[in-house]
Amino acid sequence: MTLLDIRNLSAGYGKVRALFDCTLGIGENEFVVLLGANGAGKTTLLRALSGTIRSSGEIAYGGSDLQKMAPERRLQCGIAQIPQGRGTFTEFTVDENLTLGATIVSDSRRVRRDKERWYDRFPRLRERRSQLAGNLSGGEQQMLAVARALMSRPKLLLCDEPSLGLAPVITREIFAIFKELRDTDGMTLLVVEQNADLSLKFADRAYVIEAGHIVSEGSASAILADEHIQKSYLGD
Ligand SMILES: Nc1ncnc2c1ncn2[C@@H]1O[C@H](COP(=O)(O)OP(=O)(O)OP(=O)(O)O)[C@@H](O)[C@H]1O
Ligand SMILES: [Mg+2]
Repeated sequence: MTLLDIRNLSAGYGKVRALFDCTLGIGENEFVVLLGANGAGKTTLLRALSGTIRSSGEIAYGGSDLQKMAPERRLQCGIAQIPQGRGTFTEFTVDENLTLGATIVSDSRRVRRDKERWYDRFPRLRERRSQLAGNLSGGEQQMLAVARALMSRPKLLLCDEPSLGLAPVITREIFAIFKELRDTDGMTLLVVEQNADLSLKFADRAYVIEAGHIVSEGSASAILADEHIQKSYLGD
């Protein structure tokens, strides 16, 4: 069943258009990557989904019309976004960042339980729970960004270039966690990436975007094996 049905999505900044009639579908419990080079429109597409920029076209999420919903309502409906550059609150501690991720959760016992779960999954965060997020390494900050987003118990996780500035081994760990969330928590994921080789090893399916247009779509293995796509759009 399709969880996110995006049709003819267009968006831009002032008079400059950055997305042109993009159509994508993401199934329930599917792990999809959106691949494209710098400036292709990946972040713009995620911003349109989270409602931080205006867009035209249809975005159906379950039975709801996201275009009619304010950004906060989208979070309450189970959509969490990890922005490019991580978006952790650097002036707050690791633990406070996790608390902030759960602002829509009123059950404090649930918040405590969830924190323990993510501290178990990310032991480095437990060790650093009282440290300011701004003092964490890049990899630790990315893990904190993931854990913070998970505190709202999203149904759909949107993540913008988790590999940015990270060593391959850390990126692999982040992708392994995404796959685990899909497998064990029934989560649906849309992850934006430039690192095609690695992300395609973990994802189910991929879309390729170039200059604001969706130019290709297929199973992760098919996109990985397609030399034309790799050469033309993914800079290999
Ligand atoms: N705030 C903004 N104001 C004006 N133009 C913008 C803004 N943000 C992005 N753009 C333009 O929109 C286009 C798409 O940018 P976008 O950030 O979506 O690309 P991207 O695929 O995320 O690239 P990257 O991999 O470098 O993050 C680019 O031409 C960019 O210059
Ligand atoms: Mg971007």
